[in-house]
Amino acid sequence: MEEKYKKTVASDTASLTVRGNTFELPIYGGSTGPDVIDIRTLYRDTGMFTFDPGFTSTASCESAITYIDGDKGELLYRGYPIDQLAEKSDFLEVAYLLLNGELPNKQQDEEFKHAITYHTMVHEQLSKFFGGFRRDAHPMAIMCGVVGAMSAFYHDSTDINDPEQRKVASNRLIAKIPTIAAMTYKYSIGQPFVYPRNDLNYAENFLYMTFGVPSCEEYKVNPILANAMDKIFILHADHEQNASTSTVRLAGSSGANPFACIAAGIASLWGPAHGGANEACLKMLSEIGTVDRIPEYIDKAKDKNDPFRLMGFGHRVYKNFDPRAKVLQQAANEVLGELGINDPLLEVAKELERIALEDPYFIEKKLYPNVDFYSGIILKAMGFPTEMFTVLFALARTVGWVSQWSEMIEDPTQKIGRPRQLFIGESERQYVSIDKR
Ligand code: CMC
Repeated sequence: MEEKYKKTVASDTASLTVRGNTFELPIYGGSTGPDVIDIRTLYRDTGMFTFDPGFTSTASCESAITYIDGDKGELLYRGYPIDQLAEKSDFLEVAYLLLNGELPNKQQDEEFKHAITYHTMVHEQLSKFFGGFRRDAHPMAIMCGVVGAMSAFYHDSTDINDPEQRKVASNRLIAKIPTIAAMTYKYSIGQPFVYPRNDLNYAENFLYMTFGVPSCEEYKVNPILANAMDKIFILHADHEQNASTSTVRLAGSSGANPFACIAAGIASLWGPAHGGANEACLKMLSEIGTVDRIPEYIDKAKDKNDPFRLMGFGHRVYKNFDPRAKVLQQAANEVLGELGINDPLLEVAKELERIALEDPYFIEKKLYPNVDFYSGIILKAMGFPTEMFTVLFALARTVGWVSQWSEMIEDPTQKIGRPRQLFIGESERQYVSIDKR
């Protein structure tokens, strides 16, 4: 990996002058996107660290999986634009692409789909875990616990140094996460778990396990809903080095097993600034309720003294439309139209978007709708309660997490992630006994 860099940009360096001493730092170019300055020797040479809370200017790794151009509003999985994949591909084909770097041929597609389909059942004892949670537990709390517990059940795929075990763990995670997500929902509403069906595709099977009821009546998967679900899964499958993916990589950098790492990713995704925003966005739209109340909320979002933010707006990387939001706005129209649902929240969302995009505050700060702005409306129309929204995000993102984790393990330059700090606490002082404090 070092070699590749040296060949590409041997003569390109950045000069850094620190207190009179100048250091040459190599600049590396990727295949596309910003170049990077290699600061790995900075501490050794200068005795200084870099300071970048929130990693706004830090490339934490090399990756060949997902590329985002935030200014253009472009998202590519292994080079393929997200809108093309959402329109033409299906989730497991995209999963194969993310994991392996290329779209599968017919035989590879069939083999991969077979491998995933025949891993969808979970160990029967794993289902006992659910009974230990309160019925009103947040589904993401259950997801963190149960996915973390997978490492207690699949010992034969926790040796991260064995490529075959890594592949089995990856297949297991991608295959079982819909089963666990559906079980989480079933548990919350007091219905029995529904076992997977191998004649259904990934999205259909998930809908069947979620909304089907054993024995009582046959559940017929609505193809429009299955198609929308599949599209939502594709759009959420990966997003380069975001908070949860970086969490998975950091957890994995210590050599932790993949099930534990994905549980860490789920925990990170839960937050309202990340995957939890879709839930928060729908709550916000319900709170606004009617179009005439939008200006009041726009004012709140702009008020520096009010912590309120427009949920589903703004992004660390996109300073233009999130391309996923565009696909989802269209999907929201289609799904609600096909189902004959007239949800006033869709009207509120569209009007909110229109007003915000004309407002100087949002224009200047380049705040555009993100993936979470429309996804909640579709998921609600499909029958999911808001608490399940982030679970669906986690389900889809599992393939991205696994792909990024595998890439990290296979990277010869990989080291344990260990940031440093700018220490601002007390310097050394002597212990004072309690009677003297
Ligand atoms: N509403 C109002 N003002 C906003 C918003 C918003 N949604 N987002 C950012 N701003 C303002 C912010 O107040 C700040 O203003 P100033 O410079 O005057 O202090 C400026 O824009 C930059 O914001 P920031 O917080 O420094 O930007 P960031 O890159 O750290 O945050 C973000 C990105 C996504 C956390 C943020 O835009 C946000 O909180 N959005 C709402 C939550 C949301 O929709 N999250 C989903 C992200 S996409 C899916 C995912 O990644 O999981």
